[in-house]
Amino acid sequence: GVAAKAMRNELNNMMAGVTDPAKKKVFDAEMQSFFLLFNRFLTERAKGEKLDWEKIHPPNPKQLLPYKTIEGVDPSILNKLAVLKLNGGLGTTMGCVGPKSIIEVREGMTFLDLSVRQIEHLNSQYNVNVPFILMNSFNTDDDTARIIQKYQNHNINILTFNQSRYPRVDKESLLPCPTSAESDKADWYPPGHGDIFDALQNSGLLDKLIAAGKEYIFISNVDNLGAVVDLNIMQTMIDNQAEYVMEVTDKTKADVKGGTIIDYDGTVRLLEVAQVPKDHLDEFCSTRKFKIFNTNNIWCNLKAIKRVMDEDAMNLEIIINNKVTEKGQAIIQLETAIGAAIKHFNAFGINVPRSRFLPVKQSSDLMLIKSKLYTLEHGVLTMDPAREFGSTPVIKLGNEFKKVANFEARFKSIPNITELDHLTVSGDVHFGKGIKLSGTVIIVCAEGSKIQIPDYSVLENKLISGNLSI
Ligand code: UTP
Repeated sequence: GVAAKAMRNELNNMMAGVTDPAKKKVFDAEMQSFFLLFNRFLTERAKGEKLDWEKIHPPNPKQLLPYKTIEGVDPSILNKLAVLKLNGGLGTTMGCVGPKSIIEVREGMTFLDLSVRQIEHLNSQYNVNVPFILMNSFNTDDDTARIIQKYQNHNINILTFNQSRYPRVDKESLLPCPTSAESDKADWYPPGHGDIFDALQNSGLLDKLIAAGKEYIFISNVDNLGAVVDLNIMQTMIDNQAEYVMEVTDKTKADVKGGTIIDYDGTVRLLEVAQVPKDHLDEFCSTRKFKIFNTNNIWCNLKAIKRVMDEDAMNLEIIINNKVTEKGQAIIQLETAIGAAIKHFNAFGINVPRSRFLPVKQSSDLMLIKSKLYTLEHGVLTMDPAREFGSTPVIKLGNEFKKVANFEARFKSIPNITELDHLTVSGDVHFGKGIKLSGTVIIVCAEGSKIQIPDYSVLENKLISGNLSI
């Protein structure tokens, strides 16, 4: 087609402009994979192919296993494991300028520091040497390098590599935004965590890990501190000779939009909300038919990845991310998700406890994990067992708290929320130190005024509204 040819031309021009051989190798490989993705996008757009809803069924018992404790697992299986954190995304939703992973969580430690602690502890507990890998992007590499510098003399093997950098595409012309490999940062994007397979292959790390005797890789979002290495899951994977395991967990009303695994014509697949036809959205979001969702904790067999990559068979559903740049240009980013790879492998889901999914998507999540509701040990956060029914408080913080920096400025210290059920805060509210919140607390500050909650206040089942300091 015309669009494909025009794109090819532009990419060739950019490739011809790179002279340094090392840079050229990486850049050419990236543009090559990008072009394949772009071509698929054009073809699929022309065909308008859709999932056949009639073929979609909840996973069968072979496709979704329960989580089981296995007695007497030999910890030496850990010698075959590598742990990888997806660290290519920016924490834009929470208003941070850098990677989400460098937000401070507890005791001066960031997500990155806590993940390192987890692996250090695992290694010393079982006398093994599980490497800790970070998949960065051109957006996160510098900040990450600064943080992990301090681990140089630690007894932990930290490896980093960069995922691909793809050109943003003008929505109208379907031409790339950058004009050369050196073009502005804003002309490029990291193409989603599904890029991990290309990135592992192109960086040479996949071969290196296999050569070092590693067989399995455990991958998770860098902000999910619940994604702790679990011998039961790893052993279940080995016992079933699985090539790919997706940790899923029971849906609650709060996470109706997460991707789910389905039985599609006998094969296990990921179904994302973007793929669901409008008239089936209610069905997708309900907890009745689709009971579980993807935590993005993924276990993969490295040789199986190698096989699929060598066959050029990796074919992940394209997620079209529409954006408008600062300059007002409408662009698209073609992205993929790691969960979509499930269809290429001998794979199943394991229905894990909710505690393995502890993401930080917004500042209310940060408030929870910063509070004493969770105890911190060896980088692992555990919820207070005294808390009835194990449910977390429902916290709604207004826009004034949305950015991490603002959130931090509004709490002198994180209140005691051990007995809190529900908190709603809206408007210009500041919290002093040593505050205790219990039951249902609602604080609504009128526009143009300010509420200051004094140090050591105890608020139980309280509604505070208006414009007065209490
Ligand atoms: P997502 O961007 O999919 O979800 O990243 P999120 O954490 O909910 O992000 P926001 O808050 O909506 O923006 C999930 C994980 O995948 C990584 C991110 O760093 C995060 O750990 N990621 C995402 C990459 O490594 N590369 C990407 O291109 C995108």
